[in-house]
Amino acid sequence: MHQFKTFCTRILIAAMLVGLMASCNSRSKKYVIAVVQCSQDSWREKLNAELQAATYFYDNVELRFANANDSVELQKRLLKQYADSGVDMIIVAPITSAEITPTVEQVMDSGIPVITFDRKIQSNKFTAHIGCDNYQMGLTMGKYVAAEMKGKGKVVEITGMQGSSPMIERHRGFTDAIKQYPDISIIATAPGNWKEQNGYHAMDSLLRSGVREFDYVFAHNDRLALGAIKAMKANGITRQVDVCGIDALNVPGGGIELVKKGTLTASYIYPTKGDKLLELAMNTLRGKSYSKHTMLQSELVTPGNAQVIQMQYDEIADRQHQLKQLNGKIDNYLSQLSLQRMALVLSAGLLLLAVVVIIFQRRIVHLRKSQSAMSALYSTDISRAAIAAEEHTEVENRIHITSPMPLHNESESFATRLREVVQAHLCDSDMDVDMIAQKLGMSRTALYRKVKALTGQSVVELIRESRLKLAHTMLAQGHLSVSEVAYAVGFSSPAYFTKCYKDFFGHTPKNIKNQS
Ligand code: FRU
Repeated sequence: MHQFKTFCTRILIAAMLVGLMASCNSRSKKYVIAVVQCSQDSWREKLNAELQAATYFYDNVELRFANANDSVELQKRLLKQYADSGVDMIIVAPITSAEITPTVEQVMDSGIPVITFDRKIQSNKFTAHIGCDNYQMGLTMGKYVAAEMKGKGKVVEITGMQGSSPMIERHRGFTDAIKQYPDISIIATAPGNWKEQNGYHAMDSLLRSGVREFDYVFAHNDRLALGAIKAMKANGITRQVDVCGIDALNVPGGGIELVKKGTLTASYIYPTKGDKLLELAMNTLRGKSYSKHTMLQSELVTPGNAQVIQMQYDEIADRQHQLKQLNGKIDNYLSQLSLQRMALVLSAGLLLLAVVVIIFQRRIVHLRKSQSAMSALYSTDISRAAIAAEEHTEVENRIHITSPMPLHNESESFATRLREVVQAHLCDSDMDVDMIAQKLGMSRTALYRKVKALTGQSVVELIRESRLKLAHTMLAQGHLSVSEVAYAVGFSSPAYFTKCYKDFFGHTPKNIKNQS
């Protein structure tokens, strides 16, 4: 019976541990990243979709998207709101550089990392930036336009939003290139706002103000270029004016198709690369190595290569479609697997139930014995009564010890209280066995025995392990130095912290970046 009792107790403790492990697992760090777009259009939608698809590769990230609709004030507010809500990171495409800079700096000061993408701010206070070389794009486009014009003629430039970094850099690159050609002049530079209707209005006002003699239009993106073409048509410009833009999206009506059809003479691939952006974000969050500046490759699209580029894109799209189908299948298998798992858990539950039933059956047998022992007490046979009384006491003890429910509940609530006390004082270097014993209202020895029986560890080991795990999480976030983390988790000596950490995780805390 004793062996059976031990067996049952072990099963219960194992079940508790499995439950504890499962709950620890499900509580593994989940990263929340806010993505604050400057506006909404097909380029941004593509990027958002890529970001969302890339979350598939990380099972612990949640993205929250917002769009500032080209309003600087709204974008500042969104950044502050997300920072206050305590997200783990903010990814932002700053509408304009100078105006958004102070808000990004404030967010960084509050301890939340910020990645800027596609557009830049005007300070060095950001975690990382990923985007294209917009100056180079403007420069290459300028050389291309000059070659097409055979070094002679008049150009109109329709820019993106003033003060945004791609606008500033594309304009600088383009004018630097044209400067090299004395017979080419940029006769007007009209501000647009990245949208087709802005391109229309910019060109419309130029034409109405009398600027009508030009041979080429360089628009800072393909949407602006389309708007400018429509405005020229509406204003009766029938002669051939060449127009080029930037973005070269491979969507119906996008830049690649427009170049193929001859509507645009050229465009420039402005890559979205949501997968690379999320990879960068996750690397920084998980304390892996990353570079502060990531430059994305881009390429000029001309009538000579548009067809080939589109074919390659279509090929990739086919592969992506196949991958999607495969992912669907995997999802299907996974849900079947989790059903099977549930069935397994249920059957394990039934097994446990069966064990409990056996225990109770045995208790009933003992109770019956006890009953007869009690009645023997009333007999005149003193020695039989004494034996019976002894048997009865033992039965009671057994009932108490083998009773699974009280043991489970009591241990569980003790484990919960213990966890609460330890967690609440993790950063307190004064936390020790006496303190915990006092908080739990029990003696040192009783606490030691209970903790040992429940976890196999001493109280001191338990405290140390909890502190080290918290330290590990803090180090992985990469904001604090090793000494800062050591003090923060209640170690009074960073050297001793390093030793304990190495003993537990097998590598030094400094080395965490190479481990995760
Ligand atoms: C998309 C977009 C692109 C342009 C880029 C500049 O929102 O307007 O068309 O190339 O932003 O940041």
